[in-house]
Amino acid sequence: MTIEEKVGQMIQLSASEKKNLDVLEKWNIGSYLHCKGEQNNDLQKRAEHTRLGIPLIFGIDAIHGHCFENGATIFPTQLAMSCSWNTDVIRACGEVTAKEVKATGFHWTFSPVLCAGRDTRWGRIDETFGEDAWLCGEFALAMIEGYQGNGDFSSDDNILACGKHFVAYGETIGGRDAYDTFIPKRELFAHFLPPFEKIVKKGKVATLMAAYQAIDGVPCSASGWLLKDIPASWNMDGWIVTDWDNIRSLHLNQKVAENEKHAAYLGIKAGNNMIMTTFSFYLNTLELIQEGKVQKSEIDELISPILRDKFRLGLFDENRYKDFSQASTILGASEHWTQSLEASNESLVLLQNKNGILPLNKDDKKKILVTGPNADDFVAQLGDWSFGEGQSYMHDPNFQRKEFVSVLQGIQEEFGDTVVYNKGCDVIDTTNEDIEETTRMAQESDIVITVVGDTKSQHGEFYDRANLNLSGAQEDLLKALKKTGKPLIVILVSSKPLSIPWIKQHADALLVAFNPGSKGGVSIAKTLSGANNPSGKLTISFPHHVGQLPVYYNSYDGWHAGEHHLREGYHDIPADPTFVFGEGMSYTTFTYNNLKLTSTEISAGEMLKVSVDITNTGNKDGKEIIQVYYNDVYSSVTTPIKELCAYQKVNIAKGETKTVEFEIPFEEFSLVNEKLEEVVEEGEFELFVGASSKNEDLLKSKFIVRNTQVLRKLS
Ligand code: GLC
Repeated sequence: MTIEEKVGQMIQLSASEKKNLDVLEKWNIGSYLHCKGEQNNDLQKRAEHTRLGIPLIFGIDAIHGHCFENGATIFPTQLAMSCSWNTDVIRACGEVTAKEVKATGFHWTFSPVLCAGRDTRWGRIDETFGEDAWLCGEFALAMIEGYQGNGDFSSDDNILACGKHFVAYGETIGGRDAYDTFIPKRELFAHFLPPFEKIVKKGKVATLMAAYQAIDGVPCSASGWLLKDIPASWNMDGWIVTDWDNIRSLHLNQKVAENEKHAAYLGIKAGNNMIMTTFSFYLNTLELIQEGKVQKSEIDELISPILRDKFRLGLFDENRYKDFSQASTILGASEHWTQSLEASNESLVLLQNKNGILPLNKDDKKKILVTGPNADDFVAQLGDWSFGEGQSYMHDPNFQRKEFVSVLQGIQEEFGDTVVYNKGCDVIDTTNEDIEETTRMAQESDIVITVVGDTKSQHGEFYDRANLNLSGAQEDLLKALKKTGKPLIVILVSSKPLSIPWIKQHADALLVAFNPGSKGGVSIAKTLSGANNPSGKLTISFPHHVGQLPVYYNSYDGWHAGEHHLREGYHDIPADPTFVFGEGMSYTTFTYNNLKLTSTEISAGEMLKVSVDITNTGNKDGKEIIQVYYNDVYSSVTTPIKELCAYQKVNIAKGETKTVEFEIPFEEFSLVNEKLEEVVEEGEFELFVGASSKNEDLLKSKFIVRNTQVLRKLS
């Protein structure tokens, strides 16, 4: 290979811009993203006619299904799916996505996101698996197993996954997208690096994507410590792709490079293997090599894993081209839509059900008014990286809303002709002239179902929010409906938790769907009628007010809690969130008894064995998510008041009691001390088992770690 051909392998450009397509042969481009239709094959043909005919690798943001692709299966977003706490479901959604991505000539998805969603002002909360970094790692691992399967990338069932954004991109100041992050290395090692270590070591993830932001002043894409030393310490076999134009950003935004050439230099030295959409990188790098500032051997090292994966994908031979004739039988196959329905069924979270108003009895033939701006809006329901995006087909003349079922349609299909509808208000516009008519219709109905939340223009990359109250005239609508005295059932279809204390106080029932995917309307309706017994639990807290943020459960104690543990809290708002991590109801009830530890002492190499009895005390079969938290009572550095360390989602028939057992490895109780050692410290630990992170929901026990064990030195 010539050095020009080698540098070309590092370049990924967007297929949506002509200038990027024009340089394919001239620069021997290695990869494109966001192709459309059969463009993949067209570009592959052009690449085959270059001197060496090195094939292109195609990437796409298929992050909750192959959502840009017309007719593809669209799943709940990561945040919605995370509330299922069901890794089998998450893995299965990954498997379906891989098949549909491969069927349309792509090889690689920029998914999953491992960022923790801890400041809900951030516009990309929907892309996270919630606020607990450990749980994000568990779900990301399942999704990668779905995408990558057994790692035989030459099969049509597997694609390369991409763990992103490396690292702690969700921790930017003020929830402002891509802003600086000031997280000490100790905290990175304690919370934010372990999930990536898990997907590298256990998931063998093919690629990681470097995050946009700087950490303590060093941009991730310019950090050799982050992109070379850390993955090397994990023996990572994969490679690094930058995020969109990260290299130019070193000059343009972060100003750690006086020009784009110096930015290219920093990006190479830091260990970025592939450079996403920085057009100037190719020529600048050739100059740097010419000037002896970059060695050819460095380029060799950076491109070898990329070429290796092109061979693993079979792109040099039988898999160079995709036969698109099969795509339509794979995209949105009925079993794929069934998977989407299962995912949304498992993900819905029932947070309130006063006087057991739900489920509604279809035979009562009650007159139901459906209202609210998100009752019949598929862009709001599908969420980000889907049809609200420019890259999608939505603007395409032959666009089809295949298989989409809105909340309204689902309720109409489930409850029949006793359903009436009026939108009631807009999600952004504050005019409220429709409220009067809607209120009149409510007075003539028996039950009111209102679907509120947010919409695509209010979230996503660079769309953060400083105010998390219900926007537009949504709260006016709710208050007017409440005044009618009719039972008020609220459904939240939104990208993230909003500040909804009024709903908690006044709604008779609250069902949280976040963005539930194409089949969300069916699963919501089936849940309202009782055909689906909700089993989801929150993986993210609902702030009472934006001023509380960040307000995640595994916080460090504060406010001079003192021996009385009185949480003075804020002067003007409560200290606690409206709804907490791990919270969610069922149509049945469960009781927890008989928490046992096989031993109250544990040493290195041992497992802490825990058992608890769960009884379904209601009259419906149900699924319960049993959560196990621990607290290192006294430690050499402050530690969170509780941390999730295990969970199980279990089917329990009505009247049945199940003994559920956990085996928790010694290492799960580690912390990172001031010397950056990962260590399990001797002393007293508390263990909590129960239905949510709320103390009143938890059985409590204690155990002792006999002696301190340093597990490893981090650096
Ligand atoms: C975007 C996002 C990243 C995505 C990439 C390609 O800016 O930050 O998550 O995968 O660009 O679209």
